[in-house]
Amino acid sequence: MSTLRLGVFVSGSGTNLQAILDACRTGRIAAQVAVVISNNREAYALERARQAGVPGVYIPAGSRSGSPRWEVADPCHLEVLGDYGVELICMAGYMRRLGPQVLEAYAGRVLNIHPALLPSFIGAHGQRDALRYGVRISGCTVHFADANFDTGPVIIQAAVPVLPDDDEASLAARILQQEHKIYPQAIQWYAQGRLVIEGRHVRVLNARPPTIAEAIINPGLEIF
Ligand code: GRF
Repeated sequence: MSTLRLGVFVSGSGTNLQAILDACRTGRIAAQVAVVISNNREAYALERARQAGVPGVYIPAGSRSGSPRWEVADPCHLEVLGDYGVELICMAGYMRRLGPQVLEAYAGRVLNIHPALLPSFIGAHGQRDALRYGVRISGCTVHFADANFDTGPVIIQAAVPVLPDDDEASLAARILQQEHKIYPQAIQWYAQGRLVIEGRHVRVLNARPPTIAEAIINPGLEIF
């Protein structure tokens, strides 16, 4: 049986990549990572790809502050994506935007994960910004990507409490545990053809609605 071919874009440690690789290997998602693309030659994610026997490709994509070199990066990305027959792009801790040519070629076929409950705390520091703001609940979001940062239609979110002694690292770790669950789930829904984009909304066909017991209230109620 042919499985969905993924191109995973990374910049850093690649724990989400690992969760996706593991879910593919164990058959929890009907997909395979065809190629890993990194803008960072030193990314540990590339080592994870190597250990999994998946090709890893380094493609520089300009500095975050400098002007994006899409006219250079776009054709390189498209060539590699084509070479490996990529059907779905998964940005997993990729700290750059994709260029217009890639987004056009893969319209409706690019997923991203963000470490906050969108539309709150967009940008590169979702956990730090949530802590500074003082929210009691944060979380993570898997969404379809568009030309802007973190603004495409939402597929799935998970919420976690922000605890009094949290620092950025402890909150990030709590959120990551949920990222590793909801990203493979979103990919599996896509692979099953169950995601329907309707404007800003994503319908997940035959999805189980959450029960009220799955609500997170923080601090917990004491008066009932
Ligand atoms: C994750 O928190 C992801 O949501 C954000 O960057 C982090 C990447 O972590 N975009 P990893 O490289 O998957 O470990």
